[in-house]
Amino acid sequence: MQTEASAPLLVLWDIDHTLIDAGTVLRPAYAAAFHRATGIALEQPWRFDGRTELAAATDALRAHGLDPGDGLLGVFTDVLVAELRNRAGELAADGHVLPGAADALTAVGTVPGVRQSVLTGNLYPLAVLKMTVFGLAEHVDFRLGAYGDDALERTDLPAHAFARTERHLGRRHSGASSEPCRVEGTVTDTAGRPVPGARIEVWEADEDGRYDVQYDDGRIAARAHLFTDDRGHYAFWGITPTPYPIPHDGPVGALLAATGRSPMRASHLHFMVTAPGRRRLVTHIFVRGDELLDSDSVFGVKESLVKDFERQPPGTPAPDGRAIDGAWSRVPFDIVLAAEGT
Ligand SMILES: [Fe+2]
Repeated sequence: MQTEASAPLLVLWDIDHTLIDAGTVLRPAYAAAFHRATGIALEQPWRFDGRTELAAATDALRAHGLDPGDGLLGVFTDVLVAELRNRAGELAADGHVLPGAADALTAVGTVPGVRQSVLTGNLYPLAVLKMTVFGLAEHVDFRLGAYGDDALERTDLPAHAFARTERHLGRRHSGASSEPCRVEGTVTDTAGRPVPGARIEVWEADEDGRYDVQYDDGRIAARAHLFTDDRGHYAFWGITPTPYPIPHDGPVGALLAATGRSPMRASHLHFMVTAPGRRRLVTHIFVRGDELLDSDSVFGVKESLVKDFERQPPGTPAPDGRAIDGAWSRVPFDIVLAAEGT
């Protein structure tokens, strides 16, 4: 199935330090909530580092010798929400909307076919609270967003937003459909140390062997970017790559014909990975077992780039709990970035 030409473009905003600065009220509120929920004083100031609240709260409880699986995680997050609701006046007085944020939301909201929501590490009630307190709630449709209580890994949040958008608007939003493929790995330096915050851009052809830019309807499909977490880990849902022909209607076609070569490229998934102080890596990975591996039209195949895309039969639970109707695949791909200047 292709993306419907009429499907809306979904714009997802981060909240803290993108739209608002919540001021100084958060740290004392987290400390108070932690103490109220556990009876223990929070030893370190709460770290606001972009993780989901679920991950941050889980780590904080564990760091204090507490078991988050014992119902305590839910108690703490409930108390935290109550604490911040009580301090909503303080939040409004001490925080502020960042310059240009309201204008940007207003401007994007006037673009035909665009729907706006949030993708944030905040728990859902806190996302709504902050957006409401700062007068920005009217711009976004909270039903379509993804929140810090959806998943431990922030990289799993887009899939939640897409699933909600599909549920509420009745359209697929993943752009290109085919067999889902879970791609995950770690970005490290050459000494094996994780590289947090590395930017990973990925793109691939759809099940008809075409990239989104080859359609004339302006679609954005089967491409995305994401960032590694503080352990250098990344994960996303793409589609199992399929072969496609390079354009062969001009001189390239004549050249291929003259040399007796096929225009087909072996199935692959493109990556471009960047991080401060590291050399940019542009590469792609291939599907082991693809019969075109030996005849790739642009000679791009290297053995080290051929990966096992493990087929998962229908009914196999997805690692992030995503509901999948049929079979899917998964591929691990660890990435090493060399230092700049090497
Ligand atoms: Fe390609």
